[in-house]
Amino acid sequence: MTTLTQTSHPALWLDPKSSVGSVEREQLLEAGLQLLPVATLQDLKLGLARARLVVIRLMGDTGLLEEVRKLTQAFGHAIPVLCRVERNQFELGIEAMRRGAYHVLSADDWSVDAWRSALALAPTRNEVPKNSPQTFVFVDPVSQHLLELARRVAQTQVSALIVGPTGAGKDVLARVLHDASPRRNGPFVAMNCAALPENLIEDMLFGHEKGAFTGALKEHRGLFEQAQGGTIFLDEIAEMPYHLQTKLLRVLQERKITRLGGNAPVELDVRLVAATNKDLREAISSREFREDLYFRISAFKLSVMPLRDRPGDILPLVSQFLSNYGPDDRQIRLSERAAEMLQQYSWPGNVRELQNVVQRALVLSNSDMIDEADLMFDEWESHAAEPNKAIELLSAPATAETTSATAIEDGALSTAVKSSEYQAIMAAIRSSSNRSEAAKKLGISPRSLRYKMAQFRDRGLPLLAAA
Ligand SMILES: Nc1ncnc2c1ncn2[C@@H]1O[C@H](COP(=O)(O)OP(=O)(O)OP(=O)(O)O)[C@@H](O)[C@H]1O
Ligand SMILES: [Mg+2]
Repeated sequence: MTTLTQTSHPALWLDPKSSVGSVEREQLLEAGLQLLPVATLQDLKLGLARARLVVIRLMGDTGLLEEVRKLTQAFGHAIPVLCRVERNQFELGIEAMRRGAYHVLSADDWSVDAWRSALALAPTRNEVPKNSPQTFVFVDPVSQHLLELARRVAQTQVSALIVGPTGAGKDVLARVLHDASPRRNGPFVAMNCAALPENLIEDMLFGHEKGAFTGALKEHRGLFEQAQGGTIFLDEIAEMPYHLQTKLLRVLQERKITRLGGNAPVELDVRLVAATNKDLREAISSREFREDLYFRISAFKLSVMPLRDRPGDILPLVSQFLSNYGPDDRQIRLSERAAEMLQQYSWPGNVRELQNVVQRALVLSNSDMIDEADLMFDEWESHAAEPNKAIELLSAPATAETTSATAIEDGALSTAVKSSEYQAIMAAIRSSSNRSEAAKKLGISPRSLRYKMAQFRDRGLPLLAAA
């Protein structure tokens, strides 16, 4: 496609019956559609990251529409789907609208006006409310399985425990549990047990009556009461002080709560969801966590896997973050090499790190394409704890058996030069708000800075984000 107008929108085009002729294609282009024809659902799935719109031709029933809707939902976006039906299949058109198509056109309608208004009607991705359940990504089979399980658990009333490493999506899953439950119209109240001083947690959770203690001028409804009819989410439950664990256990057993300084217990209709990134069994053996509480909250345990164990989520997440944080008026794409790097990286900071990387890339990239040089991964302790790793890797990238000491002793001058170059560049980046500023400080062009960064990255050196 060479003659793109500025306003053209990529539209995936699936027509099992016939292909589009060049005249029709030009007409659609004039209406603002850049056709991306696909032959199978698999190709359609691969193209979703690039599409503004999906256009499908229905052959007698809505089966294809249902398949496509499943794909776009799993993908995490409500990408608008337009259905083409035969002119005499009025009923089918109505059925398609009922099943989620945003618009229907006759299969032989190529008029610029009809397509232009169809495009204008298409809801944009940004109209999908952020944080609504369908904006989360569960594409990899591992994640689909977890989502399925979470939806089933959501139907029950018992407590659930979400475990998983940092940044993997425990908060997200807690939200899914609430949104998929019969309590979805009730409140979702969250508290992070690690974020509050010990003496406040009790008051926050259970509330107090007026005059319960000096300074209690008004009565205060605790979070449990605020969550009536809904879900209470206790994040980082392992950080809950031991004596409060006892109290929490009692509340869960009795389903009643008494405010501090009060004597009339309040009946509770609240579902507890807890989360932790710690191994609670270890905390139990070191007597930091009550075993009986563990049994009570972990009737349903949901494990969120590290991102590296569900690689199928990586690109769909990128595409979602690009559309959440990228410019509204155009679409930012990933170069093939960048996509490869994102898929190969080990993601110690999981989805949160991926989100950071995409946000940084949007700042660093100065075109509509994100390239490998725009990718800056988070700095991790394991790297930071080895300050000489830079030197090691620079001196002997292939056989990195050299210890840091010998690297310094044996290293040629070039090693020292390279390592101080690395340090100088990192220092400049650390003290700059973007890469062009860093390049200016270093007295080199942004282009050579990119090149150097790419070299460092190839050698596995940790790269800092611009401050
Ligand atoms: N499946 C997903 N789809 C879209 N965004 C996600 C998904 N999972 C996580 N995120 C995003 O990644 C970030 C981290 O997720 P979340 O806060 O749920 O992780 P967490 O496991 O609770 O982390 P922590 O251990 O630090 O509490 C959030 O901004 C969240 O919106
Ligand atoms: Mg969390």
